[in-house]
Amino acid sequence: MSGTPRQILGDRLRDALKAAGFDPVRGDVSASADMRFGDYQSNAAMVLAKEKKSNPRQIAADILSRLDVRGISAAPEVAGAGFLNFRLESEFLDSALGALAADPRLGVATAKIPQKILLDFSSPNVAKPMHVGHIRSTILGDCLARIARFLGHEVITDNHIGDWGTQFGKVIYGWKHFLDREALARDAIAELVRLYREVNRMEETDEVVRRVAREELVKLQAGDAENLAIWKETVELSWREFEKLYGLLDIRFDERLGESAYNDALAPLCEELQRRGIARESEGALCIFYPGIPALAEKPAIIRKSDGGFLYATTDLATIEYRLKHWRPDAIWYVVGAPQALHFQQIFAACRMMGIEANLVHIAFGSILGEDRKIMKTRSGENVGLAEVLHEAVDRARKMIAARQEGLTPEALESIAETIGIGAVKYAELSQNRHTDYVFSWEKLLALDGNTAPYLQNAYVRIRSIFRRGEVGADPGAAIRISVPAERLLAIKLLQYAETVPVVLEDFRPNILANFLYELANTYHSFYEACPVLKAEPEVRASRLLLSELTARILSHGLSLLGIRCPEKM
Ligand code: ARG
Repeated sequence: MSGTPRQILGDRLRDALKAAGFDPVRGDVSASADMRFGDYQSNAAMVLAKEKKSNPRQIAADILSRLDVRGISAAPEVAGAGFLNFRLESEFLDSALGALAADPRLGVATAKIPQKILLDFSSPNVAKPMHVGHIRSTILGDCLARIARFLGHEVITDNHIGDWGTQFGKVIYGWKHFLDREALARDAIAELVRLYREVNRMEETDEVVRRVAREELVKLQAGDAENLAIWKETVELSWREFEKLYGLLDIRFDERLGESAYNDALAPLCEELQRRGIARESEGALCIFYPGIPALAEKPAIIRKSDGGFLYATTDLATIEYRLKHWRPDAIWYVVGAPQALHFQQIFAACRMMGIEANLVHIAFGSILGEDRKIMKTRSGENVGLAEVLHEAVDRARKMIAARQEGLTPEALESIAETIGIGAVKYAELSQNRHTDYVFSWEKLLALDGNTAPYLQNAYVRIRSIFRRGEVGADPGAAIRISVPAERLLAIKLLQYAETVPVVLEDFRPNILANFLYELANTYHSFYEACPVLKAEPEVRASRLLLSELTARILSHGLSLLGIRCPEKM
Protein backbone atom coordinates (compact mmCIF):
# COMPACT_ATOMS: atom_id res chain seq x y z
CA MET A 1 0.00 0.00 0.00
CA SER A 2 1.69 3.21 -1.02
CA GLY A 3 0.62 6.83 -0.90
CA THR A 4 -0.43 9.13 1.88
CA PRO A 5 -3.42 8.32 4.11
CA ARG A 6 -5.37 10.96 2.22
CA GLN A 7 -4.63 9.30 -1.13
CA ILE A 8 -5.26 5.77 0.06
CA LEU A 9 -8.55 6.64 1.76
CA GLY A 10 -9.54 8.81 -1.20
CA ASP A 11 -8.93 5.95 -3.65
CA ARG A 12 -11.02 3.57 -1.55
CA LEU A 13 -13.77 6.13 -1.24
CA ARG A 14 -13.80 6.74 -4.98
CA ASP A 15 -14.09 3.00 -5.59
CA ALA A 16 -17.10 2.92 -3.25
CA LEU A 17 -18.72 5.90 -4.97
CA LYS A 18 -18.32 4.23 -8.35
CA ALA A 19 -19.81 0.99 -7.01
CA ALA A 20 -22.78 2.92 -5.59
CA GLY A 21 -23.34 4.66 -8.92
CA PHE A 22 -22.05 8.09 -7.91
CA ASP A 23 -19.53 10.38 -9.57
CA PRO A 24 -16.13 9.41 -8.10
CA VAL A 25 -14.88 12.98 -8.55
CA ARG A 26 -16.74 13.80 -5.33
CA GLY A 27 -14.60 11.39 -3.34
CA ASP A 28 -12.22 13.78 -1.69
CA VAL A 29 -10.82 13.06 1.75
CA SER A 30 -9.06 15.64 3.90
CA ALA A 31 -7.26 15.75 7.22
CA SER A 32 -9.68 16.60 10.02
CA ALA A 33 -9.29 19.97 11.64
CA ASP A 34 -10.57 18.57 14.91
CA MET A 35 -9.05 15.16 15.57
CA ARG A 36 -11.51 14.30 18.32
CA PHE A 37 -13.94 13.09 15.64
CA GLY A 38 -11.46 11.28 13.42
CA ASP A 39 -8.17 11.69 11.66
CA TYR A 40 -9.57 12.17 8.17
CA GLN A 41 -13.00 13.08 6.89
CA SER A 42 -15.03 13.42 3.74
CA ASN A 43 -18.07 15.51 2.97
CA ALA A 44 -18.81 13.55 -0.22
CA ALA A 45 -22.22 12.40 1.01
CA MET A 46 -23.30 15.96 1.71
CA VAL A 47 -22.10 17.24 -1.66
CA LEU A 48 -23.85 14.39 -3.49
CA ALA A 49 -27.05 14.86 -1.46
CA LYS A 50 -27.17 18.49 -2.47
CA GLU A 51 -26.69 17.61 -6.13
CA LYS A 52 -29.30 14.87 -6.05
CA LYS A 53 -31.60 16.63 -3.60
CA SER A 54 -31.71 13.61 -1.33
CA ASN A 55 -30.86 12.69 2.23
CA PRO A 56 -27.13 12.91 3.04
CA ARG A 57 -27.22 10.34 5.81
CA GLN A 58 -28.91 7.87 3.46
CA ILE A 59 -26.23 8.48 0.84
CA ALA A 60 -23.56 8.12 3.49
CA ALA A 61 -25.01 4.75 4.48
CA ASP A 62 -25.04 3.71 0.78
CA ILE A 63 -21.38 4.63 0.43
CA LEU A 64 -20.42 2.93 3.68
CA SER A 65 -21.99 -0.35 2.64
CA ARG A 66 -19.59 -0.45 -0.30
CA LEU A 67 -16.52 1.05 1.33
CA ASP A 68 -13.65 -1.26 2.16
CA VAL A 69 -10.98 0.35 4.33
CA ARG A 70 -9.96 -2.71 6.31
CA GLY A 71 -6.35 -2.55 7.44
CA ILE A 72 -6.31 1.24 7.10
CA SER A 73 -9.07 2.70 9.17
CA ALA A 74 -11.59 1.49 11.70
CA ALA A 75 -15.12 1.20 10.29
CA PRO A 76 -15.94 4.83 9.39
CA GLU A 77 -18.64 6.64 11.30
CA VAL A 78 -21.26 8.95 9.93
CA ALA A 79 -21.41 12.15 11.92
CA GLY A 80 -23.43 15.33 11.95
CA ALA A 81 -25.10 16.20 8.67
CA GLY A 82 -23.38 13.31 6.88
CA PHE A 83 -19.63 13.56 7.37
CA LEU A 84 -17.68 10.33 7.00
CA ASN A 85 -15.02 10.13 9.69
CA PHE A 86 -11.99 7.89 9.46
CA ARG A 87 -9.75 6.79 12.31
CA LEU A 88 -6.48 5.24 11.18
CA GLU A 89 -5.60 1.85 12.64
CA SER A 90 -2.47 1.36 14.69
CA GLU A 91 -1.09 -1.39 12.45
CA PHE A 92 -1.52 0.85 9.44
CA LEU A 93 0.30 3.66 11.23
CA ASP A 94 3.11 1.32 12.33
CA SER A 95 3.80 0.16 8.80
CA ALA A 96 3.30 3.57 7.16
CA LEU A 97 5.78 5.12 9.58
CA GLY A 98 8.25 2.33 8.90
CA ALA A 99 8.01 3.07 5.18
CA LEU A 100 8.40 6.79 5.87
CA ALA A 101 11.58 6.19 7.84
CA ALA A 102 13.06 4.24 4.94
CA ASP A 103 12.14 6.86 2.33
CA PRO A 104 14.74 9.55 1.55
CA ARG A 105 11.91 11.69 0.10
CA LEU A 106 9.95 11.44 3.36
CA GLY A 107 6.90 10.24 1.50
CA VAL A 108 6.67 13.17 -0.91
CA ALA A 109 5.89 11.93 -4.43
CA THR A 110 7.14 13.71 -7.54
CA ALA A 111 4.63 15.46 -9.79
CA LYS A 112 2.72 13.21 -12.19
CA ILE A 113 3.27 15.65 -15.04
CA PRO A 114 6.65 17.35 -14.61
CA GLN A 115 6.71 20.84 -16.07
CA LYS A 116 9.41 23.09 -17.38
CA ILE A 117 9.09 26.36 -15.50
CA LEU A 118 10.81 29.65 -16.15
CA LEU A 119 10.88 31.54 -12.87
CA ASP A 120 11.39 35.32 -12.95
CA PHE A 121 12.12 36.66 -9.48
CA SER A 122 14.14 39.17 -7.44
CA SER A 123 14.87 41.37 -10.51
CA PRO A 124 16.20 44.48 -8.73
CA ASN A 125 17.12 47.68 -10.53
CA VAL A 126 20.73 48.57 -11.22
CA ALA A 127 22.27 51.64 -9.58
CA LYS A 128 19.59 51.49 -6.89
CA PRO A 129 19.71 49.57 -3.62
CA MET A 130 17.53 46.51 -3.29
CA HIS A 131 14.78 47.54 -0.95
CA VAL A 132 12.58 45.43 1.29
CA GLY A 133 10.03 45.15 -1.54
CA HIS A 134 12.60 43.08 -3.43
CA ILE A 135 13.09 40.96 -0.33
CA ARG A 136 9.66 39.41 -0.74
CA SER A 137 10.23 38.53 -4.38
CA THR A 138 13.69 37.17 -3.67
CA ILE A 139 12.71 34.96 -0.74
CA LEU A 140 9.39 33.77 -2.15
CA GLY A 141 10.84 33.09 -5.59
CA ASP A 142 13.76 31.08 -4.26
CA CYS A 143 11.46 29.01 -2.07
CA LEU A 144 9.12 28.24 -4.99
CA ALA A 145 12.12 27.19 -7.08
CA ARG A 146 13.31 24.82 -4.34
CA ILE A 147 9.89 23.24 -3.90
CA ALA A 148 9.19 22.93 -7.62
CA ARG A 149 12.55 21.23 -8.16
CA PHE A 150 11.99 18.86 -5.27
CA LEU A 151 8.65 17.90 -6.82
CA GLY A 152 10.45 16.97 -10.03
CA HIS A 153 9.83 20.02 -12.18
CA GLU A 154 12.57 21.53 -14.29
CA VAL A 155 13.11 25.10 -13.14
CA ILE A 156 15.12 27.82 -14.83
CA THR A 157 15.56 30.86 -12.62
CA ASP A 158 16.12 34.17 -14.40
CA ASN A 159 16.98 37.42 -12.66
CA HIS A 160 15.41 40.02 -14.96
CA ILE A 161 17.38 42.95 -13.57
CA GLY A 162 16.35 46.50 -14.45
CA ASP A 163 19.57 47.45 -16.20
CA TRP A 164 18.21 49.84 -18.82
CA GLY A 165 16.17 53.00 -18.59
CA THR A 166 16.09 56.76 -18.56
CA GLN A 167 17.93 57.02 -15.23
CA PHE A 168 21.22 56.23 -16.99
CA GLY A 169 21.36 59.68 -18.64
CA LYS A 170 21.65 61.18 -15.17
CA VAL A 171 24.00 58.56 -13.80
CA ILE A 172 26.37 59.01 -16.76
CA TYR A 173 26.29 62.80 -16.47
CA GLY A 174 27.13 62.55 -12.78
CA TRP A 175 29.83 59.95 -13.46
CA LYS A 176 31.56 62.23 -15.96
CA HIS A 177 31.36 65.35 -13.78
CA PHE A 178 31.71 64.44 -10.13
CA LEU A 179 32.32 60.75 -9.57
CA ASP A 180 34.09 59.95 -6.29
CA ARG A 181 36.20 56.88 -7.13
CA GLU A 182 36.96 56.10 -3.51
CA ALA A 183 33.32 56.18 -2.52
CA LEU A 184 32.55 53.97 -5.52
CA ALA A 185 35.05 51.38 -4.33
CA ARG A 186 33.59 51.48 -0.81
CA ASP A 187 29.92 51.18 -1.68
CA ALA A 188 29.18 51.31 -5.39
CA ILE A 189 25.41 51.50 -5.19
CA ALA A 190 25.45 54.28 -2.61
CA GLU A 191 27.75 56.33 -4.85
CA LEU A 192 25.59 55.70 -7.94
CA VAL A 193 22.52 56.77 -6.00
CA ARG A 194 24.36 59.91 -4.91
CA LEU A 195 25.22 60.77 -8.54
CA TYR A 196 21.65 60.23 -9.64
CA ARG A 197 20.20 62.37 -6.84
CA GLU A 198 22.73 65.12 -7.31
CA VAL A 199 21.95 65.42 -11.04
CA ASN A 200 18.23 65.30 -10.31
CA ARG A 201 18.64 68.16 -7.88
CA MET A 202 20.74 70.22 -10.33
CA GLU A 203 18.27 69.67 -13.12
CA GLU A 204 15.59 71.43 -11.15
CA THR A 205 17.30 74.77 -11.63
CA ASP A 206 19.81 74.16 -14.40
CA GLU A 207 18.47 73.92 -17.93
CA VAL A 208 21.92 72.97 -19.32
CA VAL A 209 22.36 70.01 -16.99
CA ARG A 210 18.94 68.75 -17.98
CA ARG A 211 19.78 69.01 -21.68
CA VAL A 212 23.21 67.41 -21.42
CA ALA A 213 21.98 64.54 -19.23
CA ARG A 214 19.29 63.89 -21.82
CA GLU A 215 21.96 63.89 -24.56
CA GLU A 216 24.03 61.39 -22.60
CA LEU A 217 21.02 59.07 -22.60
CA VAL A 218 20.50 59.46 -26.34
CA LYS A 219 24.20 58.75 -26.94
CA LEU A 220 24.01 55.64 -24.77
CA GLN A 221 20.98 54.41 -26.67
CA ALA A 222 22.77 55.08 -29.96
CA GLY A 223 25.69 52.91 -28.87
CA ASP A 224 28.30 55.56 -28.01
CA ALA A 225 31.39 53.62 -26.86
CA GLU A 226 32.29 55.75 -23.84
CA ASN A 227 28.76 55.84 -22.47
CA LEU A 228 28.28 52.13 -23.06
CA ALA A 229 31.48 51.44 -21.09
CA ILE A 230 30.27 53.57 -18.16
CA TRP A 231 26.86 51.92 -18.24
CA LYS A 232 28.44 48.46 -18.29
CA GLU A 233 30.58 49.32 -15.30
CA THR A 234 27.59 50.55 -13.29
CA VAL A 235 25.75 47.30 -14.06
CA GLU A 236 28.69 45.11 -13.04
CA LEU A 237 29.37 47.09 -9.86
CA SER A 238 25.71 46.90 -8.87
CA TRP A 239 25.58 43.21 -9.62
CA ARG A 240 28.57 42.61 -7.38
CA GLU A 241 26.69 44.25 -4.50
CA PHE A 242 23.57 42.22 -5.24
CA GLU A 243 25.63 39.06 -5.29
CA LYS A 244 26.88 39.68 -1.78
CA LEU A 245 23.26 39.66 -0.61
CA TYR A 246 22.39 36.61 -2.68
CA GLY A 247 25.40 34.88 -1.15
CA LEU A 248 24.22 35.72 2.35
CA LEU A 249 20.75 34.50 1.41
CA ASP A 250 22.14 31.33 -0.21
CA ILE A 251 20.35 32.08 -3.47
CA ARG A 252 21.65 31.45 -6.98
CA PHE A 253 20.25 32.18 -10.43
CA ASP A 254 20.63 30.17 -13.60
CA GLU A 255 20.32 33.25 -15.80
CA ARG A 256 20.73 36.97 -15.45
CA LEU A 257 19.15 38.37 -18.57
CA GLY A 258 18.32 41.94 -17.72
CA GLU A 259 16.10 44.33 -19.62
CA SER A 260 19.03 45.48 -21.77
CA ALA A 261 19.34 42.00 -23.29
CA TYR A 262 16.18 42.69 -25.29
CA ASN A 263 16.99 46.17 -26.69
CA ASP A 264 17.47 45.02 -30.26
CA ALA A 265 14.24 43.04 -30.25
CA LEU A 266 11.96 45.95 -29.33
CA ALA A 267 11.66 47.79 -32.67
CA PRO A 268 11.04 44.65 -34.76
CA LEU A 269 8.54 43.37 -32.20
CA CYS A 270 6.54 46.60 -32.40
CA GLU A 271 6.52 46.43 -36.19
CA GLU A 272 5.39 42.84 -36.14
CA LEU A 273 2.58 43.54 -33.67
CA GLN A 274 1.45 46.44 -35.81
CA ARG A 275 1.56 44.36 -38.99
CA ARG A 276 -0.48 41.59 -37.36
CA GLY A 277 -3.08 44.11 -36.24
CA ILE A 278 -2.46 43.41 -32.55
CA ALA A 279 -1.14 46.95 -31.95
CA ARG A 280 -2.21 50.17 -33.62
CA GLU A 281 -1.24 53.81 -33.50
CA SER A 282 -3.18 56.23 -31.37
CA GLU A 283 -2.15 59.87 -30.99
CA GLY A 284 1.31 59.00 -32.26
CA ALA A 285 1.89 56.16 -29.77
CA LEU A 286 1.72 52.47 -30.61
CA CYS A 287 -0.82 50.74 -28.35
CA ILE A 288 -2.44 47.40 -27.74
CA PHE A 289 -6.18 47.76 -27.08
CA TYR A 290 -8.32 45.17 -25.34
CA PRO A 291 -11.91 45.78 -26.42
CA GLY A 292 -12.94 42.21 -25.54
CA ILE A 293 -11.70 42.32 -21.93
CA PRO A 294 -13.96 44.47 -19.73
CA ALA A 295 -11.31 45.03 -17.04
CA LEU A 296 -8.86 46.32 -19.66
CA ALA A 297 -11.32 48.02 -22.00
CA GLU A 298 -10.16 51.48 -20.93
CA LYS A 299 -6.57 50.46 -20.34
CA PRO A 300 -4.52 50.04 -23.49
CA ALA A 301 -0.86 49.08 -23.10
CA ILE A 302 1.52 51.55 -24.73
CA ILE A 303 4.44 49.77 -26.34
CA ARG A 304 6.05 52.67 -28.20
CA LYS A 305 5.77 56.30 -27.18
CA SER A 306 5.21 59.07 -29.72
CA ASP A 307 8.90 60.02 -29.39
CA GLY A 308 9.84 56.48 -30.42
CA GLY A 309 10.84 55.33 -26.90
CA PHE A 310 9.94 51.83 -25.72
CA LEU A 311 8.45 50.89 -22.37
CA TYR A 312 8.50 48.28 -19.61
CA ALA A 313 5.65 46.40 -21.34
CA THR A 314 7.55 46.28 -24.65
CA THR A 315 10.56 44.74 -22.93
CA ASP A 316 8.43 42.19 -21.13
CA LEU A 317 6.75 41.09 -24.38
CA ALA A 318 10.14 40.71 -26.07
CA THR A 319 11.35 38.79 -23.02
CA ILE A 320 8.47 36.34 -23.23
CA GLU A 321 9.11 35.74 -26.92
CA TYR A 322 12.77 35.02 -26.23
CA ARG A 323 12.04 32.71 -23.32
CA LEU A 324 9.56 30.69 -25.32
CA LYS A 325 11.90 30.31 -28.25
CA HIS A 326 14.93 29.57 -26.14
CA TRP A 327 13.58 27.27 -23.42
CA ARG A 328 10.08 26.23 -24.53
CA PRO A 329 8.77 26.36 -20.96
CA ASP A 330 5.30 25.10 -20.05
CA ALA A 331 4.91 27.99 -17.63
CA ILE A 332 6.47 31.31 -16.76
CA TRP A 333 6.08 32.47 -13.16
CA TYR A 334 6.62 36.11 -12.22
CA VAL A 335 7.15 36.84 -8.54
CA VAL A 336 6.44 40.57 -8.47
CA GLY A 337 4.52 42.86 -6.09
CA ALA A 338 0.78 43.44 -6.37
CA PRO A 339 1.16 47.04 -7.66
CA GLN A 340 2.23 45.56 -11.01
CA ALA A 341 -0.95 43.50 -11.42
CA LEU A 342 -2.31 45.67 -14.23
CA HIS A 343 0.97 45.50 -16.12
CA PHE A 344 0.89 41.68 -16.07
CA GLN A 345 -2.78 41.53 -17.03
CA GLN A 346 -1.96 43.67 -20.03
CA ILE A 347 1.05 41.72 -21.23
CA PHE A 348 -0.58 38.32 -20.61
CA ALA A 349 -3.65 39.42 -22.60
CA ALA A 350 -1.36 40.61 -25.39
CA CYS A 351 0.37 37.22 -25.35
CA ARG A 352 -2.92 35.45 -25.86
CA MET A 353 -3.61 37.73 -28.84
CA MET A 354 -0.18 36.72 -30.15
CA GLY A 355 -1.18 33.05 -29.84
CA ILE A 356 1.15 32.24 -26.95
CA GLU A 357 -0.11 29.24 -25.02
CA ALA A 358 2.33 28.89 -22.12
CA ASN A 359 0.82 29.26 -18.69
CA LEU A 360 1.76 32.78 -17.55
CA VAL A 361 1.31 33.48 -13.86
CA HIS A 362 1.76 36.64 -11.85
CA ILE A 363 2.56 35.56 -8.29
CA ALA A 364 1.73 38.80 -6.51
CA PHE A 365 2.43 39.83 -2.93
CA GLY A 366 1.65 42.70 -0.56
CA SER A 367 3.93 45.13 1.25
CA ILE A 368 6.12 44.92 4.31
CA LEU A 369 5.05 47.41 6.95
CA GLY A 370 7.00 49.02 9.77
CA GLU A 371 5.74 48.68 13.33
CA ASP A 372 3.69 51.84 12.77
CA ARG A 373 1.80 49.82 10.10
CA LYS A 374 3.01 52.13 7.34
CA ILE A 375 5.30 51.06 4.48
CA MET A 376 8.63 50.40 6.16
CA LYS A 377 10.95 53.44 5.97
CA THR A 378 14.16 54.49 7.65
CA ARG A 379 14.14 57.37 10.12
CA SER A 380 15.08 59.77 7.32
CA GLY A 381 12.10 58.57 5.30
CA GLU A 382 13.85 56.38 2.76
CA ASN A 383 13.02 52.81 1.78
CA VAL A 384 14.86 50.43 4.07
CA GLY A 385 17.60 48.59 2.20
CA LEU A 386 17.72 44.82 2.14
CA ALA A 387 21.42 44.88 3.02
CA GLU A 388 20.74 46.71 6.29
CA VAL A 389 17.93 44.35 7.21
CA LEU A 390 20.08 41.25 6.68
CA HIS A 391 23.06 42.62 8.58
CA GLU A 392 20.91 43.70 11.48
CA ALA A 393 19.29 40.25 11.57
CA VAL A 394 22.69 38.58 11.84
CA ASP A 395 23.84 41.08 14.51
CA ARG A 396 20.79 40.49 16.65
CA ALA A 397 21.07 36.72 16.26
CA ARG A 398 24.74 36.86 17.26
CA LYS A 399 23.86 38.64 20.50
CA MET A 400 21.09 36.19 21.23
CA ILE A 401 23.28 33.12 20.65
CA ALA A 402 26.29 34.53 22.51
CA ALA A 403 24.05 34.95 25.56
CA ARG A 404 22.78 31.37 25.36
CA GLN A 405 25.90 29.45 24.40
CA GLU A 406 29.23 30.13 25.97
CA GLY A 407 32.52 28.90 24.63
CA LEU A 408 31.68 28.89 20.92
CA THR A 409 34.59 29.68 18.64
CA PRO A 410 34.13 32.99 16.78
CA GLU A 411 33.66 31.05 13.51
CA ALA A 412 31.02 28.79 15.02
CA LEU A 413 29.22 31.77 16.53
CA GLU A 414 29.25 33.60 13.20
CA SER A 415 27.92 30.64 11.28
CA ILE A 416 25.10 30.02 13.77
CA ALA A 417 24.24 33.74 13.83
CA GLU A 418 23.89 33.75 10.04
CA THR A 419 21.78 30.62 10.06
CA ILE A 420 19.47 32.05 12.72
CA GLY A 421 19.35 35.67 11.54
CA ILE A 422 18.82 35.01 7.84
CA GLY A 423 16.47 32.13 8.62
CA ALA A 424 14.34 34.42 10.79
CA VAL A 425 13.99 37.03 8.04
CA LYS A 426 13.10 34.40 5.45
CA TYR A 427 10.60 32.70 7.70
CA ALA A 428 8.88 35.98 8.60
CA GLU A 429 8.19 36.32 4.89
CA LEU A 430 7.28 32.74 4.09
CA SER A 431 4.96 32.15 7.04
CA GLN A 432 2.67 34.95 5.87
CA ASN A 433 -0.09 34.77 3.34
CA ARG A 434 1.69 36.44 0.43
CA HIS A 435 -1.27 38.68 -0.39
CA THR A 436 -1.40 40.38 2.98
CA ASP A 437 0.80 43.21 4.16
CA TYR A 438 2.85 42.12 7.15
CA VAL A 439 4.42 44.03 9.97
CA PHE A 440 8.16 43.59 10.27
CA SER A 441 9.02 43.26 13.96
CA TRP A 442 12.46 42.20 15.16
CA GLU A 443 11.12 40.96 18.51
CA LYS A 444 8.56 38.76 16.84
CA LEU A 445 10.67 37.29 14.10
CA LEU A 446 13.56 36.34 16.38
CA ALA A 447 11.40 35.06 19.24
CA LEU A 448 12.22 31.56 20.47
CA ASP A 449 8.57 30.79 21.00
CA GLY A 450 5.87 31.39 18.45
CA ASN A 451 5.66 30.72 14.75
CA THR A 452 9.25 31.69 13.93
CA ALA A 453 12.33 30.14 12.37
CA PRO A 454 14.31 30.21 15.65
CA TYR A 455 11.50 28.25 17.33
CA LEU A 456 11.61 25.56 14.64
CA GLN A 457 15.40 25.50 14.55
CA ASN A 458 15.43 25.14 18.31
CA ALA A 459 12.93 22.29 18.13
CA TYR A 460 15.33 20.56 15.75
CA VAL A 461 18.35 21.24 18.00
CA ARG A 462 16.52 19.86 21.02
CA ILE A 463 15.70 16.61 19.28
CA ARG A 464 19.32 16.28 18.24
CA SER A 465 20.38 16.83 21.82
CA ILE A 466 18.22 13.90 22.96
CA PHE A 467 20.39 11.69 20.79
CA ARG A 468 23.56 13.30 22.10
CA ARG A 469 22.49 12.97 25.71
CA GLY A 470 21.49 9.34 25.28
CA GLU A 471 24.59 8.67 23.17
CA VAL A 472 22.35 6.77 20.77
CA GLY A 473 21.25 6.98 17.19
CA ALA A 474 17.87 6.03 15.80
CA ASP A 475 17.74 2.56 14.31
CA PRO A 476 16.05 3.08 10.94
CA GLY A 477 14.95 -0.53 10.98
CA ALA A 478 13.36 -0.37 14.44
CA ALA A 479 9.69 -1.31 14.58
CA ILE A 480 7.32 1.58 15.17
CA ARG A 481 4.77 0.84 17.90
CA ILE A 482 2.05 3.44 18.28
CA SER A 483 0.10 3.07 21.49
CA VAL A 484 -0.64 6.27 23.41
CA PRO A 485 -2.62 9.21 21.94
CA ALA A 486 0.33 11.63 21.83
CA GLU A 487 2.27 9.14 19.70
CA ARG A 488 -0.70 8.71 17.37
CA LEU A 489 -1.03 12.45 16.83
CA LEU A 490 2.67 12.78 16.08
CA ALA A 491 2.63 9.78 13.74
CA ILE A 492 -0.27 11.18 11.73
CA LYS A 493 1.35 14.61 11.53
CA LEU A 494 4.56 13.05 10.20
CA LEU A 495 2.62 11.26 7.47
CA GLN A 496 0.99 14.55 6.48
CA TYR A 497 4.27 16.12 5.35
CA ALA A 498 3.79 14.32 2.05
CA GLU A 499 0.26 15.72 1.77
CA THR A 500 1.39 19.26 2.50
CA VAL A 501 4.39 19.98 0.27
CA PRO A 502 2.62 19.61 -3.10
CA VAL A 503 -0.25 21.85 -1.96
CA VAL A 504 2.16 24.80 -1.73
CA LEU A 505 2.36 25.02 -5.52
CA GLU A 506 -1.41 24.92 -6.06
CA ASP A 507 -1.63 28.58 -5.20
CA PHE A 508 2.01 29.44 -4.48
CA ARG A 509 1.65 29.54 -0.71
CA PRO A 510 4.79 28.58 1.21
CA ASN A 511 2.91 29.63 4.37
CA ILE A 512 1.06 26.30 4.15
CA LEU A 513 4.36 24.47 4.59
CA ALA A 514 5.58 26.92 7.27
CA ASN A 515 2.42 26.44 9.29
CA PHE A 516 2.65 22.69 8.94
CA LEU A 517 6.19 22.74 10.36
CA TYR A 518 5.02 24.89 13.23
CA GLU A 519 2.22 22.45 14.02
CA LEU A 520 4.64 19.55 13.75
CA ALA A 521 7.00 21.18 16.26
CA ASN A 522 4.08 21.76 18.63
CA THR A 523 2.83 18.20 18.20
CA TYR A 524 6.30 16.90 18.95
CA HIS A 525 6.48 19.10 22.01
CA SER A 526 3.24 17.56 23.38
CA PHE A 527 4.51 14.09 22.56
CA TYR A 528 7.76 14.75 24.41
CA GLU A 529 5.88 16.03 27.48
CA ALA A 530 3.67 12.95 27.53
CA CYS A 531 6.07 10.21 26.46
CA PRO A 532 9.45 9.47 28.01
CA VAL A 533 11.92 8.65 25.25
CA LEU A 534 15.32 7.72 26.69
CA LYS A 535 13.82 6.23 29.84
CA ALA A 536 11.27 4.01 28.09
CA GLU A 537 11.44 0.20 27.77
CA PRO A 538 13.86 -0.86 24.98
CA GLU A 539 11.23 -1.54 22.29
CA VAL A 540 9.21 1.55 23.07
CA ARG A 541 12.38 3.55 23.30
CA ALA A 542 13.56 2.43 19.84
CA SER A 543 10.15 3.32 18.39
CA ARG A 544 10.08 6.74 20.07
CA LEU A 545 13.64 7.49 19.04
CA LEU A 546 12.67 6.76 15.46
CA LEU A 547 9.63 9.05 15.73
CA SER A 548 11.94 11.74 17.12
CA GLU A 549 14.43 11.23 14.35
CA LEU A 550 11.69 11.47 11.72
CA THR A 551 10.47 14.71 13.26
CA ALA A 552 13.98 16.18 13.11
CA ARG A 553 14.38 15.05 9.51
CA ILE A 554 11.09 16.58 8.43
CA LEU A 555 11.76 19.82 10.30
CA SER A 556 15.12 20.21 8.68
CA HIS A 557 13.95 19.09 5.25
CA GLY A 558 10.89 21.34 5.36
CA LEU A 559 13.00 24.29 6.45
CA SER A 560 15.46 23.58 3.64
CA LEU A 561 12.58 23.81 1.15
CA LEU A 562 11.94 27.25 2.60
CA GLY A 563 15.63 28.05 2.04
CA ILE A 564 16.41 27.90 5.78
CA ARG A 565 19.18 25.87 7.42
CA CYS A 566 19.26 24.19 10.81
CA PRO A 567 22.16 24.65 13.21
CA GLU A 568 23.30 21.70 15.33
CA LYS A 569 23.50 23.91 18.43
CA MET A 570 21.93 27.18 19.43
N1 ARG B 1 12.72 45.48 -12.03
C1 ARG B 1 11.33 45.44 -11.68
C2 ARG B 1 11.09 46.20 -10.37
O1 ARG B 1 11.98 46.33 -9.56
C3 ARG B 1 10.80 44.04 -11.52
C4 ARG B 1 10.86 43.18 -12.77
C5 ARG B 1 9.99 41.98 -12.67
N2 ARG B 1 10.06 41.11 -13.82
C6 ARG B 1 9.52 41.37 -15.01
N3 ARG B 1 9.72 40.51 -16.00
N4 ARG B 1 8.79 42.44 -15.23
O2 ARG B 1 9.97 46.65 -10.14
